[in-house]
Amino acid sequence: MIEVLQGDIVCLEVDAIVNAANNSLLGGGGVDGAIHRAAGPRLREYSSRLGGCPTGGAKISPGFDLLAQFIVHTVGPVWHGGNRGEPQLLDSCYRSSMQLALENEARSIAFPSVSTGAYRYPRSDAATIAIAAMRDYEACFERIVCCCFSAADAELYRELLEASK
Ligand code: APR
Repeated sequence: MIEVLQGDIVCLEVDAIVNAANNSLLGGGGVDGAIHRAAGPRLREYSSRLGGCPTGGAKISPGFDLLAQFIVHTVGPVWHGGNRGEPQLLDSCYRSSMQLALENEARSIAFPSVSTGAYRYPRSDAATIAIAAMRDYEACFERIVCCCFSAADAELYRELLEASK
């Protein structure tokens, strides 16, 4: 089942939460900053040994002080107008994150809207890509949560999810 929630992803009781990270995996602002603050200092210590992460890729860590057992760190593309493979890279973020979560036997997963903040990906285009990938994996999970920070994002996701039925 795919559901849309509005709020702070660090509060969600799911097996895996997805972090919109950067290639260094050493933390940052936005949801990356929120997750590092909530998971505690062990997360940076752990992720500093992961050797970074390519754009479109995903790496996994324990959730440490989070309720979630795992954090799946994915690195979204920076938006440069859409002609530098951004759609394919964003699609790969969602698919590689869900694949990695399944390999670790996670049964529920929550995503932020990857790349739509500091990386400036247009929100509606990003949500369309996210929902299409989630639909392909829907049967593999008990729950897939689109965790939207703003009410506007939640409304957008709900509309697109309805349209994708
Ligand atoms: N919970 C859920 N969603 C959140 C939270 C939160 N606590 N904080 C921010 N968001 C939302 C933003 O509103 C946006 O819709 O997450 C989405 C992604 O925004 P960013 O966090 O800015 O991520 P992104 O656009 O992928 O840029 C990644 O920013 O924080 C740095 O280290 C990070 O360099 C990387 C870049």
